[in-house]
Amino acid sequence: MILSCVIAFGKNRGLGFGNKLPWHLPDDLKNFKDITRGHTVIMGRKTYDSMGKLLPERKNIIITRDKSYKIPNATIVHSVEDAIKECKKEKEVFIIGGGEILKLALPYLNRMYLTHVEAEVPADSFFPEFNINEWKIISEKFHPKDEKHPYNFTFKIYEKV
Ligand SMILES: NC(=O)c1ccc[n+]([C@@H]2O[C@H](COP(=O)([O-])OP(=O)(O)OC[C@H]3O[C@@H](n4cnc5c(N)ncnc54)[C@H](OP(=O)(O)O)[C@@H]3O)[C@@H](O)[C@H]2O)c1
Repeated sequence: MILSCVIAFGKNRGLGFGNKLPWHLPDDLKNFKDITRGHTVIMGRKTYDSMGKLLPERKNIIITRDKSYKIPNATIVHSVEDAIKECKKEKEVFIIGGGEILKLALPYLNRMYLTHVEAEVPADSFFPEFNINEWKIISEKFHPKDEKHPYNFTFKIYEKV
């Protein structure tokens, strides 16, 4: 099983503020949907709260410490390791945030789909620091800012070396 993450973050690695995304970038959301559709997504409880709904056409796994937590049609687990065990037989599974869960999942990741947003925005949740020497970039695509996208951004796919 390939464990991946799909995340957008800004110049300071900020990825969220006030339990919301710091930007609205429709083509990044489309990229996220294209990558994750039909697969399992794993998220922290706060990311689920920030979305306010389960993602359709995907199996949703939510990580919480709360043993009584229940969401209809979602799988609830209490650690990243248990989330991974839930999808052992799948080809590729996606960690979709937020910062707390990414920090715990980083050692297990094989692939990262990162959108580097050229924005300096206030943030209270961050992508964890990672050792660039442990990763190679296998794909890179620039998206310029336009009337729907206030910032330039670049889609990069990293694989563990
Ligand atoms: N830019 C992006 O691509 C992107 C993607 C996703 C999310 N976000 C943003 O990220 C922010 C949310 O991220 P966050 O870091 O605050 O929270 P998070 O990682 O989504 O969720 C944190 C929660 O996970 C659970 N958790 C954490 N460590 C755990 C452990 N060791 N064992 C069991 N459960 C554990 C806890 O849930 P309980 O409190 O229920 O126990 C904790 O409150 C929001 O602003 C959201 O918009 C951005």
